[in-house]
Amino acid sequence: MNNQVIVFDTTLRDGEQALASSLSVHEKLQIALSIEQLGVDVMEVGFPVSSPGDFESVQTIARTVKNSRVCALARAVEADIQACADSLKVADQFRIHTFISTSDIHVLQKLRREFSDVEQMAINAVKFARRFTDDVEFSCEDAGRTSIDNLCRMVESAINAGATTVNIPDTVGYTLPNEFSSIVEQLLNRVPNIDKAIISVHCHNDLGMAVANSMSAIEAGARQVECTINGIGERAGNCSLEEIAMILQTRQKMLGLHTNINHKEIAKTSKLVSELCNMPVQPNKAIVGSNAFSHSSGIHQDGMLKASNTYEIMTPESVGICKTKLNLTSRSGRHVIKHRMESLGYNDTDFDLDKLYQDFLALADKKGQVFDDDLEALIFNINQQSNS
Ligand code: KIV
Ligand code: ZN
Repeated sequence: MNNQVIVFDTTLRDGEQALASSLSVHEKLQIALSIEQLGVDVMEVGFPVSSPGDFESVQTIARTVKNSRVCALARAVEADIQACADSLKVADQFRIHTFISTSDIHVLQKLRREFSDVEQMAINAVKFARRFTDDVEFSCEDAGRTSIDNLCRMVESAINAGATTVNIPDTVGYTLPNEFSSIVEQLLNRVPNIDKAIISVHCHNDLGMAVANSMSAIEAGARQVECTINGIGERAGNCSLEEIAMILQTRQKMLGLHTNINHKEIAKTSKLVSELCNMPVQPNKAIVGSNAFSHSSGIHQDGMLKASNTYEIMTPESVGICKTKLNLTSRSGRHVIKHRMESLGYNDTDFDLDKLYQDFLALADKKGQVFDDDLEALIFNINQQSNS
C-alpha cells in the first residue's frame, strides 16, 4: 500500500463556513497562498454555487495557486457541479467534490427519500462531474452513522461512476477511533473496486476525537486526510492539520507514512488563519498554542536545560516557532534563574543566587509569571541594599 498520506485542506470551505463573518476574496487568497506554501496536496476553497462572492474567490484562487490542486464543493446536483466547473476551469487541473447523505437519519429525515434514490443521485452527480475533470471526489455525508452495508454499496457505486477519491466523513464527530478504523477496514475488504480509488477521511471534533479518529483511519488504510488549520470548522471544528501532520512526522518511523507538508510553515499559517478569521488559538492547543513549547515546573526546566528531548518530542523550530520558553514562576528552580541571568549577560559574581532566588519566589508568589525586566529590577534592589 502507498505510504504517502494526501493532505486535503478545507480551511477555506468547511472552516470558513463556521466563521461569524465571512472572509473577503483578498483574505481568502492570502490564506490560500500560505496553505500552498505549507505544501498541502489539495485545497478545498469554497462552495461556488452558494454566492457570487464564493464563486469569485474560488476562481481567483484557482487562477493563482499552482502547487496545490484546487477543489470546490457541490451537492449532488448539476447546478452546483456546473458552478464548480465554471469557477475552477481557469486552473490547469482541478478537483470537483460532490456529496450526498447516506445515513438513515439524513436520508429519511433530511432528504426524505429512499436510499436507492440517493444512490442514483450520487451516480448521476459523479458522472456529470467527470465531464469536466478526471479528479472527482465523492463524500458519503454522515458516513459515521451509516450502516456498513449501505456505505459499501454507495462507495462501490460512486467508484463505478468514476469517483477517484471516496471520502468517509464523520460529519457529527460521533464515532470512536476503533469504530472508525473498522469502517475503513470493511470498505477495503468488502468493496470489490476499492483499489480504483483513494479512501479519504473527514472527521469533526464534537467529542474531541477528530484527530484520533483520522489517525486510526489512516492506520487502517485511508490515504487522504481532510483537515483545517487550527482545526477550525462547524461546531467544535474539524481535524486539525498541524496535529495530524506532526503526528505523522514525529511517529514516522513507527508508522512508515509521510506527507508533503513543509512543517516549518505551520506556525506562520496558523497565525495568519487565526488573525484573519478572528479565531484566537487556545494557549494549550497542541503544536501551535502559545504554551505548546513552554515549560513551567522547576523539574521540567532543569531537564530542558540538560537536554531538550527530556520534555519535548519535537522542537519548536521544526514547526516554525522561534524557541522553547522557560516561564519563570514560583515552580521554577535555581537552575533556570541562574541560566536566565547568564543569558541576560550577568556573571555568577554579579549577584548572590540564594538572595536573588528568595526575592524571586516572593515576587512570583505575588504576580505569577516573572519576566526578565523583573529579574533585573530585583538584582538592582539587592545591589542597592548591599551598597547602603
Ligand atoms: O462534514 C461533512 O460531512 C462535510 C462533507 C461535505 C464532506 O463537510
Ligand atoms: Zn465537514
